[in-house]
Amino acid sequence: MELTIERILPGGLGLAHADGRTVMVALAAPGDRVRVSIDRVKGNVAFALIQEIITPSPQRVEPPCQYFGRCGGCDFQQLNYQAQLEAKVDIIKDCLHRIGRIENVPGLQITSAPNPWHYRTRAQWQYDSIRRRLGYFEAGSRHVCDVAECAVLAPELQQTLSELRARTSDGSLPEEARDFRAVAGDDGVSIAPPVRGSSPTVGEGSGLTARDVTRNIRDETYRLNAESFFQANDDLLPQLIDAAIGEAHGETAVELYCGVGLFTVPLARRFVRVIGIESDAAATRFARANLANANLKNAQVINQDVGAWLEKKSSPDFLLLDPPRTGAESHVIRGILNLKPKRISYVSCDPATLARDLRKLIAGGYTLESILALDMFPQTHHVETVARLATV
Ligand SMILES: C[S@@+](CC[C@H](N)C(=O)[O-])C[C@H]1O[C@@H](n2cnc3c(N)ncnc32)[C@H](O)[C@@H]1O
Repeated sequence: MELTIERILPGGLGLAHADGRTVMVALAAPGDRVRVSIDRVKGNVAFALIQEIITPSPQRVEPPCQYFGRCGGCDFQQLNYQAQLEAKVDIIKDCLHRIGRIENVPGLQITSAPNPWHYRTRAQWQYDSIRRRLGYFEAGSRHVCDVAECAVLAPELQQTLSELRARTSDGSLPEEARDFRAVAGDDGVSIAPPVRGSSPTVGEGSGLTARDVTRNIRDETYRLNAESFFQANDDLLPQLIDAAIGEAHGETAVELYCGVGLFTVPLARRFVRVIGIESDAAATRFARANLANANLKNAQVINQDVGAWLEKKSSPDFLLLDPPRTGAESHVIRGILNLKPKRISYVSCDPATLARDLRKLIAGGYTLESILALDMFPQTHHVETVARLATV
């Protein structure tokens, strides 16, 4: 089947129409004329793979990574960087219109990444101990794609990956480990689960340990390790904090899903009283330690599920939420609407769940004041978005 790619959809697939059917094509560029084979069909939608590029899109480039197409990590390397940014703006607008039913989207700007390659300072590598493979899942499968060099890893993490790979061939990695998570700080790399060396000193020497590391962002110091969530691209964190908090200040701020306190520390400098909520015990400990280290005594971090905490609380001036990719659960949105914060800042890594939740917040009496995007994940269709809302 021959077809022309119209645009990139949320999820990163290219949209085309042929023989009265909607066809979604992996690793496509808008304007590509391609011959495809149908991989599977779901209802009236066919999912297809490119067999031949008949006429390449002007936006198409040669993907530099040898694993591209097999590895499930990157799905935008076929697009030049400007085209990636344009596709992400289109993806967000599509979600806001289609899922959020938001007619008037305030002008949407995207901040580009200073480093479109070798930017990832946090990673998760899958491990197949039987086949001795270490890398990422292959696209759409649970098979591990064995990756020696990853084009989006920061140099420190590439070195850690290489050290781990050296251990797969001597069999010294723990057989029971299914994956390894790593985060790079300014002072080294933390890895979980930690790797013990064949002699007691080797593990320490190679740095494959679950040690705490620190990261300085705009004069604030954050302590963290590979066990807890931290943003994957440090380059844009000052801009992300600005977008999420901006000039906000006042009496009380609440932060839902606060992690190790990336936003809690700057919030505590601007509000008289701050409450952060986080369900992960280790992240909560780091957030408390990061506030104490900054000598901030006006912020409290509660180790609790957000939904449970939201019941029967009084209204803050400002509420920031940065939920996982799945967005905020329905009862969390209901809890926020009951809480009635004057202003809301919603930080999201998934435009579809963001749009779903914005629709509910707008129906509950909020207006969307601004929305902006940051390209925290170049070479993939993923994008970070910050929406700011206020009571009508
Ligand atoms: C996307 S991360 C954001 C963390 C932090 N804002 C940051 O940027 O580093 C989401 C955080 O929410 C926490 N979390 C997930 N579900 C939760 C829940 N139901 N209640 C409280 N915290 C939750 C996770 O442990 C994680 O730390």
